[in-house]
Amino acid sequence: MFDIILFTPQIPPNTGNIIRLCANTGARLHLVKPLGFSLDEKSCRRAGLDYHDMAQVQQHDSLDSCLDLLGISIGAARLFAVTKFGTQIVHDTALAMGDVFLFGAETTGLPDHIHAALGESQKLSLPMLPGNRSLNLSNAVSVTLYEAWRQNGFQTPQQKISHDSSN
Ligand SMILES: C[S@@+](CC[C@H](N)C(=O)[O-])C[C@H]1O[C@@H](n2cnc3c(N)ncnc32)[C@H](O)[C@@H]1O
Repeated sequence: MFDIILFTPQIPPNTGNIIRLCANTGARLHLVKPLGFSLDEKSCRRAGLDYHDMAQVQQHDSLDSCLDLLGISIGAARLFAVTKFGTQIVHDTALAMGDVFLFGAETTGLPDHIHAALGESQKLSLPMLPGNRSLNLSNAVSVTLYEAWRQNGFQTPQQKISHDSSN
């Protein structure tokens, strides 16, 4: 399916919404520390999250360790940073199953050294009216993930398994 990476998310309800979104779309969610909240079972229950939704959530000490686990480097062609500084629009980009999407923190976005390490074709943006600052993080993830999934026929892991085994 898809991998979503949140770089140092700070606001619990945003991550809560994204956890639910990933559980509903089959995406794996990666949280790069430090986080602005705790993800223990009690906190999740308090936030109204079903602990079952947490199955696809992993925490990482750094972006490098997250990318290592995914077997890619920062310059990988199928790693896309979703940022308002991107020159290419998400909806104009051909997205494929297995693509990895990286999002910045609510207040600070992605740091400059990460922007600098990415090629221009790896930076995707979501259109906004001129003069607006940014979208809410969970909305940005939602719009991007649904566009990627739509482009791939809302494929499920089961369909992928049966397609792979018939080849
Ligand atoms: C609230 S925004 C961060 C705002 C931050 N001040 C900045 O300049 O990036 C949180 C994250 O949502 C995503 N985001 C928000 N608006 C976006 C847009 N128009 N296009 C692409 N990504 C966007 C980005 O990943 C961003 O890092």
